[in-house]
Amino acid sequence: MNKAHSDGPNAVGHKNVFTAVITAISDMFSEKGQLEPMGADERLDGKTVLVTGANTGLGKAIAIQLAERGAFVYMACRGGHPEAGEDVKRASGSDRVEMLKVDLSDMTSAAALCDQLKAIGKRIDIAVFNAGLMPAKSRRGPQEFELMFTVHFLASRLIVHRMLEDDVIVPSTDPALRPRIVFVSSEAHRSSKPIDFDTFGTPIDYGIKDGMGEYARSKLHLCTYATELSKQLNTGDETRVSVHSLCPGPVASSIAREAPRWLKPIINSIFKLTFQAPERAAKPVLLLAGGAAVEGRNGVYMHMMREKVVSDLAADPDNGGELWRRSQTLIAPYLK
Ligand SMILES: NC(=O)c1ccc[n+]([C@@H]2O[C@H](COP(=O)([O-])OP(=O)(O)OC[C@H]3O[C@@H](n4cnc5c(N)ncnc54)[C@H](OP(=O)(O)O)[C@@H]3O)[C@@H](O)[C@H]2O)c1
Repeated sequence: MNKAHSDGPNAVGHKNVFTAVITAISDMFSEKGQLEPMGADERLDGKTVLVTGANTGLGKAIAIQLAERGAFVYMACRGGHPEAGEDVKRASGSDRVEMLKVDLSDMTSAAALCDQLKAIGKRIDIAVFNAGLMPAKSRRGPQEFELMFTVHFLASRLIVHRMLEDDVIVPSTDPALRPRIVFVSSEAHRSSKPIDFDTFGTPIDYGIKDGMGEYARSKLHLCTYATELSKQLNTGDETRVSVHSLCPGPVASSIAREAPRWLKPIINSIFKLTFQAPERAAKPVLLLAGGAAVEGRNGVYMHMMREKVVSDLAADPDNGGELWRRSQTLIAPYLK
C-alpha cells in the first residue's frame, strides 16, 4: 500500500466544470501529498517516448517538454496535423521527434500502430496515453464501440497488451531500463456510477446533458484498468513496469470543442480565467513519466501535483479483474 493510500483525504471529484474547478482549487492549495515537479536539470536523454493525442492541448505540451529534456518522442496522432511535429521540434529545439498516425476510435488503426512500433524495432521506455475527447453526443467508431470507451480505454488496453507482447515495452527491475506507462485520466472518474459488466462495451446513447456522466464512466474504466495493470505487471516485490495515472486538473485546451455554440463563450471565459495552461498542466505527467522522485514506484495517482488515491470503485480488485477479463475478449480480434 503506498503512502497516499494510508493518509490524506480524497476530494469528491466532480460532475461538471464548476465542481471540477472547486476540486482543483482545493487540491492545488492542500498541503497534503504535494509532490515536487521534475527538477530543471533532470534529463531524459536516451529515452524513447510515445505520446498519444500529441498534436494539441496537453499532449503537445507533454511532447515538447519530454523532447526538451532529450527524449526521442513519437507523437501518435490522427491524420490532418502535419504541422504538429514541426511545431514540437521548433518549440523544444530538438529534431528527435516523429509523428505516427493512429485513430484511437478505430481498433484496426490502433492495431496498425502496434504493427508499426514493432516494425520500427525500438524499445519504448515511456508511454503516455493522453488522447481524449468529450463528444456532444454519443458516436460510434468503425467497430461500433462508443468513442470515449475506445479512445480513453479500449485502444490503450490493446496497445499496452501488444507493446508487451511484441517486446516494445520490456519489463525490467533495473532503474535505468524500467519502463513507465502513464494514463491521463480525470478526477471525473469519482462521480461515475459503477461499471455495469452486463452491458460492458455496449454503446449507450447520450446527449449533451448526460455526456459528462459517460465521460466519467470512460475515465473510471481507465483508472480501474491502470490499477489492475499496475498489479498484473508487478507481482513480485520489485517494480518491473511503473504504471501511473493522473488527472491534470482543468486545462485550457480544445477538449470542449464540441460544446454547443451558445455555451462556448461561457466555457472560453472559464478557461481563460481559471484553467491552467497546458504547459503547467503537463508537470504531473512529466513527473510520473520521467521524474527521479517517483523512480521505482508503481500505481501512483495524482490530481495535478497532489498525490491521491483513485476512487474505491477503481481500486476494487473484483472490478479490476472483471474489467481485465471482459476487455481481453474485446481486444482478442485485434491481437495477432
Ligand atoms: N482539458 C481538461 O480540463 C481536462 C481535465 C481532465 C482531464 N483531461 C484529459 O486530458 C487529456 C488531453 O485532453 P486536452 O485537454 O489536451 O484536450 P484536447 O486539446 O482536445 O486534446 C485531445 C487530444 O486527443 C486526441 N484525440 C481525440 N480523439 C482521438 C482519436 N480518435 N484518435 C487519436 N487521437 C485522438 C486529439 O486529436 P485531434 O486534435 O485530432 O482531435 C487531441 O490531440 C484527455 O485525456 C482529457 O480527458 C483534460
